[in-house]
This record gives sequence, structure tokens and C-alpha cells, in this order.
Amino acid sequence: MIEFKTDKVLVRGLSKDIKIKAKLEVPGDKSISHRAIMLGSLAGGKSTVSNLSLSRDNLATIAAFRKLGINIKKQNSSGSNKDFIINGTGLYGLKEPESVINTANSGTLTRLLAGILAGNDFFSVMSGDRYLNSRPMKRIIEPLSLMGAKINGRKDGSYPPLAVSGGRLKSIFYEVPVPSAQVKSCIMLAALFAEGDTVIYEKKGTRDHTENLLKLQGYPVNVDAPVNGGSLITVKGRGRGELKPFNISIPGDFSSAAFFIALGILNEDSEITACNVLLNDKRIGLIKALEMMGANVDLTLTGEVPERTGDIKVKYSALRGITVPLELVPDMIDEFPIFSVIASFAEGKTTVTGAKELRVKESDRIKTIIFNLKRIGVGIKELEDGFEINGNPSLKNFKPSMKSKMDGLTVLNPFGDHRIAMSMIIMGLILKNRKIELRNIRCINTSFPEFFDVLAEITV
Ligand code: S3P
Repeated sequence: MIEFKTDKVLVRGLSKDIKIKAKLEVPGDKSISHRAIMLGSLAGGKSTVSNLSLSRDNLATIAAFRKLGINIKKQNSSGSNKDFIINGTGLYGLKEPESVINTANSGTLTRLLAGILAGNDFFSVMSGDRYLNSRPMKRIIEPLSLMGAKINGRKDGSYPPLAVSGGRLKSIFYEVPVPSAQVKSCIMLAALFAEGDTVIYEKKGTRDHTENLLKLQGYPVNVDAPVNGGSLITVKGRGRGELKPFNISIPGDFSSAAFFIALGILNEDSEITACNVLLNDKRIGLIKALEMMGANVDLTLTGEVPERTGDIKVKYSALRGITVPLELVPDMIDEFPIFSVIASFAEGKTTVTGAKELRVKESDRIKTIIFNLKRIGVGIKELEDGFEINGNPSLKNFKPSMKSKMDGLTVLNPFGDHRIAMSMIIMGLILKNRKIELRNIRCINTSFPEFFDVLAEITV
């Protein structure tokens, strides 16, 4: 089924006899893990965080805060290796880093940390891998500059490395021009150090993990829903609040669970339950889209703190194509790679528009989805802000002619993007008569180093 070679895999379709009936857990949510490390470091005292994601992105956040002088260690040598203690030193307790902070592949780390560094009276530099260093940063430099921050970057502040000369900030009113939780959170974190109340308006609410954790820490943050929609967030500034330490267990990452949700829905006679998964309303747009397509999905709530959590049970379903409602797009922004795989097997046309943000993710996801699905033979058309897929349920059993190049082997390319890599592996498992080769799979470690272990557990 899956054969490993050096940094590449050969994926064959799951045998018809494999009917998956499984319960699984995925590692802690990546977005909440970043924020727990950051806000735990800024809290006045010891926080405990269980089930922290050990993805490459999150390890980079731990390393960054250690470099800023924070003591972060495992809870105990005998317990889970995902349980951590963060010894926060308060809002003004960070130390100037002596060398460049490595932000790896992580847009969240780079953008959120920029907000914190901007309010700290020292010099720091952030730089990541070649993919991260070509992602747009003007979107945070603009509001931070309005707050009085001094930040420089490559190409006139467009790209990392970013050099931050932190200092006193002033509060602003800011309407976030693109739906982005990273931009919103960057400003919220800078607001903790600013003089006065900072007010942020988002036309369409995005993931609110920063708001939720700040509230859990007793910090004065107010979220209103104005009459014209969206959300209006007010963060009290310098000297107006304190960040209390917290003890949390991080729910499973919905974006990681999404690959197994897809497998359960697409593989005949299968039933998969992903347990203890984050069900924040701003993260589960994929569930709503799947329900519109006719998928059999069942949610059971199991907890509310630090965020809504529950079990997701899916069963093999016949799907029909849909037009994804515009308002769902930000709530499933990380799930479009796997959604494109799901839509490839639905009856009829699926259209995604209003998703231009996909062009500035870990790869230009519109291009990388199109490149890979075209190689497989999916009818897909590129749109400026999305794509159109002509789904075909019988694609699963399509047999390439033996004369086709390289004995029916289709070579795909994740372009360094973890979610494209995992999506194409699920695609390969569903195509019964094909062989898919996927190169450079190390990028999967960016968010989900345990991906192949979970897959092996449920498919043997
Ligand atoms: C994230 C926000 C989203 C998302 C990313 C994680 C976060 O990015 O795509 O994977 O943790 O805030 P944008 O804010 O750029 O939409």
C-alpha cells in the first residue's frame, strides 16, 4: 500500500478487502499549540500544557521562546512526551535573542511573534525556510508600523528575514483587509504592549484561538458582533491587564483529522471516528461543505475548555458536487487541498471561489492542487480565486493503459507543502488501479509527523 524510499513514497490503492472501521486520535491542534507557547511565555508564572503538537512548526515556536529566555520543559520524564511546563516571565520578561530566530516553515510563528517583538524594547531578527521567506509580510508590517513599530524586511518589508527594533507602541483602530487570523492575532499581541485600547474589525470572523486563550487568562478582551456582520475585537493596552498562567489540554487538530475524514468518506464500506478533535466553529467549514455534498457525518461534543471539542464519525458516502458558499471559505481555508481530492470523486461540478488567500499559503495552493490533480486525470480548471472540478466517482477504478509512461506510475509533487503531500497520499490510497509516487515527503513534518503512524494503525 505505502512503500517508503528516501524522502519519497510509492502509494498503491487500498485493496478492495480493506474496509476501515477505526477510531483514531490526531495530535494537538497546531494553531492553539503556537498560541499556548506564546501566551504561556508571557503569563506571570507556571502554565501546564498537555497534548502540545510536536510538529516542526510548533518545535520552532518552543525554540524561539527558549531563545527569548523562557524556560519550557517536559512535564515529567515518565509521562507523555507531549506535556509541557512553561515558566512564563510576564509581559515584560522576554530577553533580547543573541542570534537569528528560526521560524522554519511557519507563517503563524513569524506573524504572531512579530507582534510580540514589536512591543519589546530590543533588537531581533526572524528568518525561515525558503518557502516561508517568500510569503507576504506587508500585511503585518502595515498595521504594526501604524502602531509605531520599526520593522524591516527583504524587498522593502515584503518578505522575511524581518528585523524588528521593538519599543513603545500606540493603539490603533484597524480593519483587517484580508480574512486572516494571523494578521488579527499579530495586532492583538502587539496591542498588549500598546498605550490605550486597540480595536480590530474583521468583515468575516476568522479562527478566534487568540481571543479564547486571552480570555481564559483573564485578560480584558472584548468581542462584539456588529450589525453588519463580522467581529469587532477590543484589546486593552499596556498596564490594563495581566496574563494569568493556565492549565490546558490541547484538543486534536481538525486540519490533521481532515485527511482521515476524507479517507472514511471515500473508501468503500469504511467508518472512521476521529476522537477528541477541536470543533471550533471557525475551523469546521469542511464539515458543513461535506454535509452539503451528502456525506454521512456525525459530531458528538465532549468538552468546551479551552475550546469546543468532540468526536467526528464519518461513513463511506456517495457525494454530489457543490458550489462552496463564500462565507465558508475562511472556515475551511487549510482544508482545500484535501477538499479538492474529495470533490474529484463527487458526482458533478464543484466550484470554489473567493479563496485567493490559497495563493499565499505554504505553496500557491491553487497552482499546486491543479498541477497534481491534472496529472491524475481529474477535470479541473484554474480560477483566479479558486478552482472548478468536474468530479467523477468512477475515477477510483480507472485503469491506465499499460503502455502509458513508466508502467502506469504517476509522479506527483507536493512543492514543499505538507497539506498537499498528505492530500495526495489519500488520493493515492483511493485510486484502486494506480501507482502514485510522491517526492519530498519530509514536508509532512511541518504539521503532522505522526501521519504515517496513524495511517498504518487504521489500514492494517
Ligand atoms: C492560522 C491562520 C490561517 C491558517 C494557518 C494558521 C493561525 O492563516 O491558514 O494555517 O494559526 O492563525 P491566515 O491567517 O493567513 O489565513
